[in-house]
Amino acid sequence: MTKKLLLRALAGETLPTPPIWMMRQAGRYLPEYRATRAKAGDFLSLCYNSDLAAEVTLQPIRRFGFDAAILFADILLLPQALGAELWFETGEGPRLSTITRPADLGALKGKDDIHDRLAPVYETMRILARELPRETALIGFAGAPWTVASYMVAGRGTPDQGPAHALKAADRKTFSALIELLTEATIEYLSAQVVAGAEVVKLFDSWAGSLKGQDFTDFALAPAARIIAALKARHPGLPVIAFPREAGPRYVGFARATGADCVALDNSVSAEWAAANVQKDGCVQGNLDPRHMVTGGQGLVDETRRIVRAFAKGPHIFNLGHGITPDGNPDNVALMVETVREAR
Ligand code: CP3
Repeated sequence: MTKKLLLRALAGETLPTPPIWMMRQAGRYLPEYRATRAKAGDFLSLCYNSDLAAEVTLQPIRRFGFDAAILFADILLLPQALGAELWFETGEGPRLSTITRPADLGALKGKDDIHDRLAPVYETMRILARELPRETALIGFAGAPWTVASYMVAGRGTPDQGPAHALKAADRKTFSALIELLTEATIEYLSAQVVAGAEVVKLFDSWAGSLKGQDFTDFALAPAARIIAALKARHPGLPVIAFPREAGPRYVGFARATGADCVALDNSVSAEWAAANVQKDGCVQGNLDPRHMVTGGQGLVDETRRIVRAFAKGPHIFNLGHGITPDGNPDNVALMVETVREAR
C-alpha cells in the first residue's frame, strides 16, 4: 500500500497536490454533527460517547474525503481528567474551576491518574483506527500547556489570557508547577492516543501569540520541545504538528527548536512570507482564512489557489488558519477541497 498523503508530506515530501483537512472539521456547521450532538445530549457527553464521537469524526471524511481525520474530543478534557471541574455554558463556551493558589494545584491529580477518565477517548481512537478509509490518516491532539493553563487559571476563555499572565507575574513558582504538570500529563495523554491508533499528533497552542520574549521561549517553545522529545523517544518516527497560533515572527525556527515535523500557520501570516521563512525548515500546514468558509465564491477560489502556489515548492498540508466557524457553509468547504485538488 502506498503511504498516506498526509504522512508523506509530514515526512518532507513535496507532493503535486497537498493533502487537505480542516480544523474543527467535525462541528456545528454540519447538520449531521448537530443531529448526532442532539442524540448525545450535549457536547461533553458527545466527547465521552466513543461510538458517537467516532461517528462525528467520520462525518466530514464521508462528505468531503479529507486526507486526515482528527479525533473528536477537546483540549479541556485533560484538565477535567486532572480533577478540574468542566462544563460548557450554551452560547458562551467552557467554564472550569480555577487554579490560582498552590492549594488548587495541590488538589489536582498526578500525570498517571488521568487514564480512567480518558478511557472513552482512547476507545474512540481505536474505533477510528478500524473504520477509517485506508488512505485517511488519523490525528490525535492535545492543547499545549500554556493554552490549557490559560483556561485553568481563568476558569474560562479570555481575550488576552490576563489571569494566566497575572499568575505568572505574581507567583511564578505556582504557575511554572502548573505548566510542569500539564507538560508531563500531555506526554502521557498523547502517548496513550498513539497506542490507541493515532498516526500523527498535533499540539494546539491557540494562545501562543500572547507570550512575548523569554515567556515565549519558556512557556511555548520549551514545553513543546519536551513533549515532542518524549513522544518521539517512546514512539520512534511519530510525526508531530505544532500550532503556535499567532506566533508571528516566532514561527521562524519553531520547528527546529521544538523538533516538530510540521508547523501549522494561522492566517495572520502571509503564505509567501511563510514559504520563505518557515517552510525552508520543513513541512507547513495552513493557512486559509476560515472566513472564506462563510463568504465562498471567487474570493475563496483565488485565495486557495494563491496559498497552494505559494507553498508548492516544499512540503505542505492545506488547512484553514483556525477552525471553521458554525456559520461556515458546507458547500464552500466542498469548493475549497475541489480547488486544492485541481490547483496544480
Ligand atoms: O478539529 C476538530 O474537528 C476536532 C475536535 C476539536 C474540538 N476542539 C471540538 C470542539 C479540537 C481539536 C478542539 C480543540 C480546542 N478546543 C482548542 C484549540 C483549537 C482552537 O480552536 O484554538 C480550544 C481552545 C478548545 C476549547 C474550546 N472548545 C472552546 C473555547 C470551545 C467553545 C468555543 C466554540 O467553538 O464553541 C470549545 C467547544 C468545542 N470543541 C466545539 C467543538 C466541535 C463546539 C461545541 C459544540 O458542539 O457545541
